[in-house]
Amino acid sequence: MANNQGKEKILVVDDSEATLEVLQRNLASEGYQTLTASTVSSALAALETTRVDLVITDFKMPGGSGMDLVRHIRENLRDTEVMMITGYPSIEGAVEAIKIGAEEYLSKPFTDEELYAAVRRSLDKLHLQRSGRKPAPQPPALPHGMLGESEAMRNIMDAVGKAASTAATVLITGESGTGKELAARAVHYGSARASDPFVPVNCGGIPDSLLESELFGHMKGAFTGASESRAGFFHAADGGTIFLDEVSETSPSMQVKLLRVLQDKEVCMVGSNRPRKVDVRILAATNKDLWTLVEKGTFRKDLFYRLNVITIALPPLRERHNDIVLLATHFAQRFAAEFGRPRPQFSERATSVLRNYDWPGNVRELENVVQRLVLMTEGDIIDAPDLPPLMRFSALRGAGLHRTLAEVELDHITNVLASVENNKTRAAAILGIDRKTLRQKLRRIPENSPS
Ligand SMILES: Nc1ncnc2c1ncn2[C@@H]1O[C@H](COP(=O)(O)OP(=O)(O)OP(=O)(O)O)[C@@H](O)[C@H]1O
Ligand SMILES: [Mg+2]
Repeated sequence: MANNQGKEKILVVDDSEATLEVLQRNLASEGYQTLTASTVSSALAALETTRVDLVITDFKMPGGSGMDLVRHIRENLRDTEVMMITGYPSIEGAVEAIKIGAEEYLSKPFTDEELYAAVRRSLDKLHLQRSGRKPAPQPPALPHGMLGESEAMRNIMDAVGKAASTAATVLITGESGTGKELAARAVHYGSARASDPFVPVNCGGIPDSLLESELFGHMKGAFTGASESRAGFFHAADGGTIFLDEVSETSPSMQVKLLRVLQDKEVCMVGSNRPRKVDVRILAATNKDLWTLVEKGTFRKDLFYRLNVITIALPPLRERHNDIVLLATHFAQRFAAEFGRPRPQFSERATSVLRNYDWPGNVRELENVVQRLVLMTEGDIIDAPDLPPLMRFSALRGAGLHRTLAEVELDHITNVLASVENNKTRAAAILGIDRKTLRQKLRRIPENSPS
């Protein structure tokens, strides 16, 4: 039943020689080119040297799961589809395989027709992918430039709205890069103070000896070098909002002074003992667990309560999967416009890697990654292999590392031979050895190795 589907190359991976033989024969009769491998590591080695359109892999194999192979292909190969076969039919296994990117899932026993149909669907999908692309979804614009459609982000938007409508002090918490400053701006620009200044102060970045005069200003002659009086951030923020970032980094004496500002709404310039009224709303942020610091005695409990009238706790990005693609698309658009580059789209595989990554640096890390991708990626599709290696799963990192040099050499020789239709002269030329050496090495290859 041969037909003209020709050319398409399929790698079949199964630890059973009998299964390999049957599949190879059937697929060849349908006009496909086939390669075989009996372990995950030899499949990985074959994929390194040969471009394959479709991998059909067994699920359970000694020395490495087909699942690892599926993930590896999904996250490292641009142009290869993958299909899982299993002798252990279970819904969990199927769901898991599909979730990590297997296009198709076949349970043993299956008929030849079922096999051909599944292979055809996978390859059709591949061709569709190669030729077409889908339009990028437009991220919905939410107030204050904060994007998010996850449940967690909707709650944050609510909290921001409520905080904006009051004059209360707000403590914004969250890991680094989760959007604390953006939330602070959203509170300010959504509030009645929007037309007055928003003044961010990084308390962790200013040495303690300077922080007091930066915040409260100083009188002429207050200390060496104070040749004239200068207003501080609190005066600059009069009528508006001051944002005390990294408030956990303030010294005990500064904490007392901040407490006084919160209680009395007045500040004292350094070198003066005449307090001055200020009308400033205070927002504070920290990426530490302030309550733990209170318990340890390094942060004042009374200041904690004064700051923590309203809390906005920003969730880490890994807990809001639904926002990742939205944000990535938004940043891609922004940077493409900024750098005059084509607006890239993320392939399904790239999207799945982005969604599965841990994002220790949260939204800021995502923003940086997308910026680099917009600058570095050729063409306008960002695919999984374009992403930083650290973000991608690699079965090679594990499985490949347990192979001996001799095994790696054998795999490589076998693959090179397969790629030149067993022509030993050409294989020897590619391998950089003479035919005699190749023959010697070949004597060590077992009869039933991949062909
Ligand atoms: N929900 C969001 N929508 C759009 N952009 C966001 C969102 N959250 C964060 N960003 C962007 O991510 C970057 C980091 O945000 P931001 O500076 O507010 O984080 P942070 O929590 O203050 O970080 P750090 O703790 O490192 O100071 C900024 O460029 C910000 O505009
Ligand atoms: Mg910040």
